This record gives sequence, C-alpha cells and structure tokens, in this order.
Amino acid sequence: MDSSFFLLPSILTADFGNLEKDIARAVDAGVDGIHLDVMDGRFVPNLTFGASVVASVRKMTALKLDVHLMVEEPLRLIPDFAAAGADVITVHVEACRDLYRVLDTIRGFELEAGVALNPGTACEAVREVLAMADRVLIMSVPPGFGGASFIPTTPAKLARMRSLIMAESDGTRPVMQVDGGVDVSNVHKVVAAGARHVVAGSSVFNDRASVKTNVEALRRASRQPQGH
Ligand code: DX5
Ligand code: ZN
Repeated sequence: MDSSFFLLPSILTADFGNLEKDIARAVDAGVDGIHLDVMDGRFVPNLTFGASVVASVRKMTALKLDVHLMVEEPLRLIPDFAAAGADVITVHVEACRDLYRVLDTIRGFELEAGVALNPGTACEAVREVLAMADRVLIMSVPPGFGGASFIPTTPAKLARMRSLIMAESDGTRPVMQVDGGVDVSNVHKVVAAGARHVVAGSSVFNDRASVKTNVEALRRASRQPQGH
C-alpha cells in the first residue's frame, strides 16, 4: 500500500516568507511532490500566486510540481505554467467551457493533465474525458482556503469515481487524488477508497509538530486507522 501512496504537501499553508525553508523541510521529510494552489479571486473567493512563484519553487526542488489551477478559463494560463516548470496541471471541470480542449492543450505541452471536481459536482461530469486524463482530483472541502473541514462523504464519492474509471478507461489511469482537510483521522479512509495521491496542507505545515513528524504520522495513518 505504501509504495502507491503519494503525499503532496500544499504550500498554501506554508510560511510564504520562508518558502524555501518549508519546501526544504518537506523534501527532507520524503514527500512525493509539491502541490501549488493557484487562485484567481473569481473561481474561488481567494487570491494566491501565479506562474512566477511556480518558477521560483522549480529552482528549489526536482520533485514533481503539481499545479492546481482554481481559476476561470484556465486555457489562457497553461503556457505560462508549462514554461514555469509545472509537471502536472489540474483544472476544474466547473471552470472550463471546453474541457476536452483544455486537457488536450496540457498534454500538448507533454505534462500530466488533471481534472478537479468541486464537492457539489457529480462524478459523471468528467466521464467523457477520463480516457485522456492522468489525474482526477476530488475536492474534499469547498475550494479556496486551507484548513477547512474534510467532507465526510468524500470516501463514498471516491468509490463512485473509481467505478467510473474502471468502466471508462483502462483502469490504471487516471489516478485519483484527494485534496482538502486530509489529516491522520481520515487519510486511511481516502486511501482505502482508492485515492493514491493525497494533498495535505495544514496537517503538514503547522505549529504543532515538525514537517517530518507530520509526514511520518500521515504515512503511518494511511496504512491503518488511527488508534490501531
Ligand atoms: C483548497 C486547496 C487545498 C488545500 C489544502 O482550496 O486546493 O490544496 O488548501 O490544505 P488543507 O489540507 O489545509 O485543507
Ligand atoms: Zn489544491
């Protein structure tokens, strides 16, 4: 189970004044990539950063950079994020007028293409593009802010999405990713439901323990329910 569990810390809850230090801590803790939350203040009620920050992070690590675009009409931004060094670009189905073209454009840059679904969006909304997506990201909080509470129906949604993937693609792709409110109390449930890439912000970067301690605790908890 462990080898197929990829932990991607979101830098949204990192210290932006000390980003290099926080990224180094995450890299030392053995994470599998870095998740970068781009927000435009329109698709979500929050504003974060653009391609220049991704380019800076690119210089700090060779790990995969997983760019989560929470922006309206992401098509126009894809070339900038590709040039900045993204490895994966994930767009929201709710933000795309022509999802097929958007995913095709990402793949045209030879990047991995992901499609994200908000909590209120049904799995069927991405059925037609499953065969061309590398990742499907199930949001387990309303998008926009770190530190929100995990929506308890998420494992059931992951299970529904897994069935759809088995029916609509070769079954090995797209990989399911979950994002929002994941911590030691629920990571086992999302992994058991089929998520292989887990994004975690505040359960990795917080004042309670070191990044390394938090990453180890999440990996341990992914293998067995907490308290066992
Ligand atoms: C939410 C973002 C997430 C999130 C992760 O809109 O996409 O990546 O901030 O942070 P936590 O784990 O704190 O929910
Ligand atoms: Zn995210």
